[in-house]
Amino acid sequence: MAKVEFLTLHEIVRQAQRNLDKNRWDYLIGGADTESSLRRNRAGLDSWVFRPRILNDVSEVKADTEFLGSPLRIPVLLAPIGSMQVFEAGGAESVARAAADFGVQQILSSVCTPDFEQVAQLVPGPRIYQLYLMGDQAWMDDLIGRAIDAGYTGFCLTADTQTYSRRERDILKRHVPASGSRSDALDFNYQARMTWETVAHIKDNFDIPLLIKGVNVAEDAARCVEMGVDVVYVSNHGGRQLDHTRACIDALPEVVTAVAGRVPVVVDGGFMRGADVIKGLCLGAAAIGMGRIEALAMAAGGAAAVVRALEILEHEIKTSMALLGVSELKGLNRALVERVQPISSAHVLSAFPLLDEGY
Ligand SMILES: Cc1cc2nc3c(=O)[nH]c(=O)nc-3n(C[C@H](O)[C@H](O)[C@H](O)COP(=O)(O)O)c2cc1C
Repeated sequence: MAKVEFLTLHEIVRQAQRNLDKNRWDYLIGGADTESSLRRNRAGLDSWVFRPRILNDVSEVKADTEFLGSPLRIPVLLAPIGSMQVFEAGGAESVARAAADFGVQQILSSVCTPDFEQVAQLVPGPRIYQLYLMGDQAWMDDLIGRAIDAGYTGFCLTADTQTYSRRERDILKRHVPASGSRSDALDFNYQARMTWETVAHIKDNFDIPLLIKGVNVAEDAARCVEMGVDVVYVSNHGGRQLDHTRACIDALPEVVTAVAGRVPVVVDGGFMRGADVIKGLCLGAAAIGMGRIEALAMAAGGAAAVVRALEILEHEIKTSMALLGVSELKGLNRALVERVQPISSAHVLSAFPLLDEGY
């Protein structure tokens, strides 16, 4: 991989902005309808502040952990992003290489190239396979079986996309994104018919950890755990599906309470910085999914830029931990954060305020 000189995530975002045309930029950055779920994700994160502790020895700060039995150098999962190949030609393979090189796990979207079997051959895992249901039960069973055979260490069913939302940035330009998703496409019939029976069927027939992605409320989280789901994944799809949801960071506490430590909880939605990751962990998440920053890094410079983004995130995470007075992830807890009024209005890139000042 070529050496990349980015010193800040800001520079990576700015480079992505320069590299992408409007269609691809809007596909990556945009959300559904009024984009309020999207903005709320950031507003929610900006509404939690730290209550730092002092005079603890932080001469050695460790941010490594494990997830589904495999190591994570930082508590971050690369969230599934469809059509990754439109941001950089290597697509899913480049992300796989970056994840392996740095030491985090990729959740591979089923609507990406190269496909899951090719990626598994090219870059050894651990890796999680994310599926949209685009066929009947036999179709799904075949894919899960093949994912297990290919060595995937987890299977993620995305449950917040039972129909495709209205992404006005695309509609206004009459642009159909590369994944070509449209709710009137025949294939979405299978997504729309998914139920808790689908979950029961997977648990009864396959021996692979199951993640349900798109949980928003305590009731569904509790039902997931009762049905044997292995990971509850809080997400509003980065504000790209149902508009007017709570910020994911604000949905997290009730889900964590409902799950009560029985299985790990993952959260994504608006997490762009190391401090954001720390806030999610303080509120009980085991790991944080990061989607747009992963795709922005791909657009900025492919696999090498994704590795660089992860290195910068690691630095930010460890710096925040040291300044919070915490030297190990298990020291992060609810008493270290408090909810306040945010100080500025939020938008998808408001984690990078210097962009507005022309830096
Ligand atoms: C361009 C783009 C494509 C996405 N494609 C998928 C996908 O194929 N499958 C899926 O489960 N989620 C998909 N998501 C949602 C992400 O997995 C994740 O939930 C979201 O990006 C998290 O928010 P963040 O981007 O603010 O980190 C996509 C998100 C973006 C931005």
